[in-house]
Amino acid sequence: QVINLADYRPTDFVLERVDLTFELDPTETKVEARLIFHRREGANPKAPLVLDGDELSLAGLLFDQVEMSAEQYTATAESLTVYDLPAAEPFELTITTIINPEANTQLMGLYRTGGIYCTQCEAEGFRRITYFPDRPDVLAPYTVNIIADKAANPLLLSNGNFLGGAGYGEGKHFAAWFDPHPKPSYLFALVAGDLGVIEDTFTTMSGRDVAMKIYVEHGKEPRAAYAMDALKRSMKWDEEVFGREYDLDIFMIVAVSDFNMGAMENKGLNIFNDKYVLADPETATDADYANIEAIIAHEYFHNWTGNRITCRDWFQLCLKEGLTVYRDHEFSSDQRSRPVKRIAEVRHLKSEQFPEDGGPLAHPVRPTQYREINNFYTTTVYEKGSEVTRMIATLLGRETFKKGMDIYFDRHDGQAVTIEDFVKCFEDASGRDLAQFSLWYHQAGTPLVTASGSYDATAKTFSLSLEQMVPATPGQTDKKPMHVPLSLALFGENGGKIEPASVEGAEYAGEVLHLTGRTQTAVFHGVGSRPVVSINRSFSAPINLHFDQSPADLALLARYETDHFARWQALTDLALPNLLKAARHARDGKAIVCERTFIDALLAAAADKNLEPAFRAQALALPSEADIARELGSNNDPDAIHAGRQAVMKQIADQGAEVFAKLFETMTTPGDFSPDARSAGRRALRNAALTYLSYAQCSPGHAKAAFDAANNMTELLHALTILAHRFPESGEAITALSAFRDRFAQNALVIDKWFSVQATIPGAATLDRVRKLMESPLFKRTNPNRVRALVGTFAFTNPTGFGRADGEGYRFMAREILDIDQRNPQLAARILTSMRSWRALEPVRAGFARAALAEIEQAPALSTDVRDIVERTLKG
Ligand code: ARG
Ligand code: ZN
Repeated sequence: QVINLADYRPTDFVLERVDLTFELDPTETKVEARLIFHRREGANPKAPLVLDGDELSLAGLLFDQVEMSAEQYTATAESLTVYDLPAAEPFELTITTIINPEANTQLMGLYRTGGIYCTQCEAEGFRRITYFPDRPDVLAPYTVNIIADKAANPLLLSNGNFLGGAGYGEGKHFAAWFDPHPKPSYLFALVAGDLGVIEDTFTTMSGRDVAMKIYVEHGKEPRAAYAMDALKRSMKWDEEVFGREYDLDIFMIVAVSDFNMGAMENKGLNIFNDKYVLADPETATDADYANIEAIIAHEYFHNWTGNRITCRDWFQLCLKEGLTVYRDHEFSSDQRSRPVKRIAEVRHLKSEQFPEDGGPLAHPVRPTQYREINNFYTTTVYEKGSEVTRMIATLLGRETFKKGMDIYFDRHDGQAVTIEDFVKCFEDASGRDLAQFSLWYHQAGTPLVTASGSYDATAKTFSLSLEQMVPATPGQTDKKPMHVPLSLALFGENGGKIEPASVEGAEYAGEVLHLTGRTQTAVFHGVGSRPVVSINRSFSAPINLHFDQSPADLALLARYETDHFARWQALTDLALPNLLKAARHARDGKAIVCERTFIDALLAAAADKNLEPAFRAQALALPSEADIARELGSNNDPDAIHAGRQAVMKQIADQGAEVFAKLFETMTTPGDFSPDARSAGRRALRNAALTYLSYAQCSPGHAKAAFDAANNMTELLHALTILAHRFPESGEAITALSAFRDRFAQNALVIDKWFSVQATIPGAATLDRVRKLMESPLFKRTNPNRVRALVGTFAFTNPTGFGRADGEGYRFMAREILDIDQRNPQLAARILTSMRSWRALEPVRAGFARAALAEIEQAPALSTDVRDIVERTLKG
C-alpha cells in the first residue's frame, strides 16, 4: 500500500498526555498505556479513533477506567478502532498489550539483546509496543513507569528526568521517568538491564548542570571515554555555533551490540550501535574515532533539529536528517581539518548517493510517495539533504544563514513542521525568493552541468558558458532548471588569483556564481590574461561537472588553488581519464600507459611538505573501482576496471618508489597513541605509502613487516588488508589473518573488521571464502553488525568478487537476502540495495543480476521492505 504526501491531514484526536507502565519480562512484557485525548476542534464528531499496531494483540481496554464492551471497538494486529467517543471533552483510554521482546528479531519496538531490554521506535516501531497514533505530528509529554526484576535489571531508564524509584516486592523494583518536552512516539526509549557506566557533568551556557552518562557492557567502560569527550565537545559547539542549549537534567547514551542502524536520538536517552561508542587505541582505527565523534554529535544535535522541532510526516525526514548531517559535518570540520573533511564528505556522497540518484532507487530529497518508510533512510535524504542545507548557507552567506536558523528555532520550537516551513525561514531572513532553489528538494537525479570557456585577449574578457541538465529518474521525466550555486575563481598562469572587474550574465557575489537558467553565459570583464577557471570549489553544489580542462590547467589548480578541496578535485580530474582509459585498454588487451602530467602532479602533492599529511593521503587514494564504474556509466566489466586500476597503481608506485619509501619511514607517530586529526593524518599518509610500496615490490615483505611492527589498529588493519588483498594465497597473509583473529577473538567489533577484510579480497575466489566464513563459529546471523561486515561488505565493496562473471555472487546474494528477510527485513532490504546499479553492468552479468532479483521477487512471503526495494530495482 502506497502512502502519498498529498493525502496528509491532521489527526481527528489530539493526544494530551501519555502514561506508560511496563512490567518487563523476557517473553511476556505487559504494557499499559494510559492516553488522554480530546477530539480536535472542527473534526467530524462521529469519527472513530484509529490507532496503529503491528503484530499486537489487545489484552485490555478501558474508557475512563471502565472496561469497554466488544461492540465499542475493533482490534486487529494492525489497528485498534474505538467508536462513540466524546465530541469535545477529554477522555482517557487505558490499553493493555502483552509483547515478547525475546522473539523480536526485527529489532524494531522493544527487544532484548545480550540480556538488555532496549527499544528502537523510529520510524514506526512504537506501534509494536502498544496501539498508538504512531506518527510524528502527534506530540505529548510522557510519564514512564518501569517494573522489572531487580537483580537482572538494576538499571531502568527512559526519556526525560528521573522522578523516583523504589522496591516493588518479590525481588522487583520500579522507576519512574517524566519527559516534559512534548514528543512524538518515534523518540520514545526504554532501556533496562545490567550495564556499566561512565559519568561526567556539563555546565550549560546558562549555568545549569547536566549529568552525562554513557552505559556500556560491564568491563567496557574505559572504551567509552572518547565518546564522552566527543559528547562534551558537541554540547559546547552547539551552544557556540547555533546558540542551542541542552534542556533536561540528564543526558544518557546506551551502547548495544545488536542494532539495525548507527544510532538513535531518543529524547535524553540516545541508543547507539556500540560500534559508534567503543574505542581504544588497540582496537579502533582512526576512521572509527572519526565516526564516533560524528555520530555522537549527530544524535546530540538532533535534540534541537529533530526533537524540539520535528517532522510533520515522514516525507519531511530530510528536515531533521539533512539538517542534522549538515550540522555534524560542520562540527567535524571545526574539530578537524575543514578541507580534508570536505574531501571525505564528497567521496562518500559520490560513492553512495550519486549511484542511488542515478539508478532505479532514485528519489527526491523530499519524496512524495512511499510504501515502506524504512527504505527512505537513504543517502539521498541524509547526505544530499545535507548538501541542500549547505547550498542555502552558500547562497545566503554565513550571517544570513545563521539568522534563518535563529528564525527557525524561534518560530517552530515545539512543532512538527515541513520543508516549506524551513525554507520560509531563510526567505524571511534574506528577502530572497527560494522557490527555484527548492527544486533541490523535489527533483531527483544528479544535475549535470557542462561548462566551456573562451578568452578574448583584446577585450580582456573571459566568457563561461554553462548548461544544466537534470536526468530523468523514476516517476520524473521533465525537469526544470535548478538554482545551482557554483563557487568559482579564476587563476593566472603564475598561479595567482585574477579578480575580474565585473561580471555580466549571471549573479556573481562572494565568489559564488548563481546558475539559474538552462543555459547561461557569464562574462568576466577586466581579465588581463587567459585564466584557469576553478568551478564548484568546495563542492558548492552536488552536481556532475563536465568541463574539458587540459592536464596542464588541472596541474596548475592542483598546485595553486587556495581551496584545498579544489586541489584534490583537480588531482582527481587528472586521474580519472587515465583510469577510464586503463579500464578500456584492460578489456581490449591493450597496453596501459599513464600520462606523465598526472603522475607528476600526484607525486608532487604527495611529497609537498606544506600540505597536511591527511590531505596528501587523500590525494594518493585514487578513485575506487566503483567510482570508475560510475564514470564509465554502462557496459561495465568489473574485472577490466580492476585490472586497469591495478596497472595505474603499479605505474605510480614505480615512478614514486623513493617518495613512498621516504614517507613510510618518516610519517610515524611516536609516543603514546593519540586519535587527534593530525596524528591520524600521518598514519593515513604512511598507510597510503605502504600501499604503493606493495605495488612497487610485488611481494608481501613490506606489509608483513608493517603488520608485525604496528602498535595501533589503523596501521595493523591496513597492513593486514594489503597482505590479504594483494597476496591472499601467501603464507604471510594466512598467518597474519589467523594471528589477528586469535588476538581479537573476544572483541566483536574487531572481528567484524576481520570478516570485512576477507569479504573484500578481489577476485572470483572470494565467494567461496565468504561461504566458508559464514560457517565459522564466529559468524552470527542474528547480529546485524556481523552480517553487514561479511555479507554487506562483500556485496557493496567487492565488485570483482560479488560481480564475478558466472553470476554466482548474485545468486548467493538472492538466497542470503531471503534468509535474512525472515528475521530482519530492514537489514535484508538495506543489503539488497547493493544491486541498484545492475543495469550498468555488461549484458551477461546484467542478465545474471536480473535473474537473481527475479528470484527474490518471486519468493513467497517477502517483507514489505524487501518487496519494495526489489520491485523498484527491477523496474526503474
Ligand atoms: N534517526 C536516526 C539517525 O539518524 C536513524 C534512524 C533510522 N531508522 C530507520 N528506521 N532506519 O540518527
Ligand atoms: Zn539522524
